[in-house]
Amino acid sequence: YLSLDVGEAADFSALADKVNQRPDTDAVVVYLSTAPKFFAPACEKLAAAGQNAPKVRIVLEKPLGTDLASCRKINEDVAAYFQENQIYRIDHYLGKESLQNLLALRFANVMFEPLWNNKYIESVQLTIAEQLGVEERGEFYDITGALRDMVQNHLMQMLCMTAMEVPASLDADAVRDEKVKVIKSLKPLTIESVNENVVRGQYTAAKGMNGYLQEINVPQDSFTETYVAIKAEIENDRWKGVPFYLHTGKRMAGKMAEIVLNFRPLQNHIFENSQAAPNRLVIELQPTESVRFYTQMKTPGAGNKVEIVPLATDLEKALEGRRAEAYERLLLDVINGKLALFNRRDELEAAWEYVMPILDNWASNT
Ligand code: BG6
Repeated sequence: YLSLDVGEAADFSALADKVNQRPDTDAVVVYLSTAPKFFAPACEKLAAAGQNAPKVRIVLEKPLGTDLASCRKINEDVAAYFQENQIYRIDHYLGKESLQNLLALRFANVMFEPLWNNKYIESVQLTIAEQLGVEERGEFYDITGALRDMVQNHLMQMLCMTAMEVPASLDADAVRDEKVKVIKSLKPLTIESVNENVVRGQYTAAKGMNGYLQEINVPQDSFTETYVAIKAEIENDRWKGVPFYLHTGKRMAGKMAEIVLNFRPLQNHIFENSQAAPNRLVIELQPTESVRFYTQMKTPGAGNKVEIVPLATDLEKALEGRRAEAYERLLLDVINGKLALFNRRDELEAAWEYVMPILDNWASNT
């Protein structure tokens, strides 16, 4: 164990000495789970100590900046010392088995992909709800808020995996190219259109629990959002006209994350109640991993009524095999040099670009 001061070049020489005692290693992984302001000085000192050779991989924990400009700055600073294929920008949602399963569901089955477009789908909902409040993290959270903490990264990744085109292969850049295309096809928000397409909220005290403003290290007059909902649109042939609703919040009724595709209603009316609810596909990421396709079936007995019931699979029961924790899977990928589940620079910057008008609107409305 070696304790380093990020401001001390000598500490990095000591680190280099340790690493150099094992010259035969294939990979050296440096995981910077620090505040982003330490990324640049750490990279500079690593390089000065010779620790930026091709076998060194650098993992950057989120948040990568607080806005587009600071994210670009971090990316530039790190790029001064490391090649893009040495940089692993982590988003632990990509390490979740259920999110990766979305690619299998879509691209390894015959029946979903033909329906996966604006002809058949009316709207899409992407939700991450948390039961916890900000707990002890008030200081961090108050300058961050739900948009930066959850939307710009986790929800954006859920959106990409749901909306992307089939990649040429599962190679890192093939997958990431398609994800970038989704983000770049989002209809840009403007400071004005934010008023119609985005809402924010803050939890208040209830059921004996603190409101956000009573949490430790949160200023009494804070406007920081603990809830955000966005109506997003993707302007491409597949999705034009289909609203994507992204929402996330802390201190919600329960903890859950899911993707819901709401299909369009059928036009034929041969059943007694054929206006019954349209089909719905629910991909649950947590608390359990499941896929449920809500389908009309005949109500038993006389008459010709239908009702909607789920064709459901609990993936944890159906598929054996140990499930790795998201971070476990991702760190293993770093060791194995697999970049597919990490954000590429252009992808991350595009995601910041999309949320910037929201931040600008809110900054002028506090
Ligand atoms: C983190 C956020 O990235 O994700 C936290 O900083 C949030 O605020 C957490 O609680 C949610 O992750 P999970 O895996 O519990 O849904």
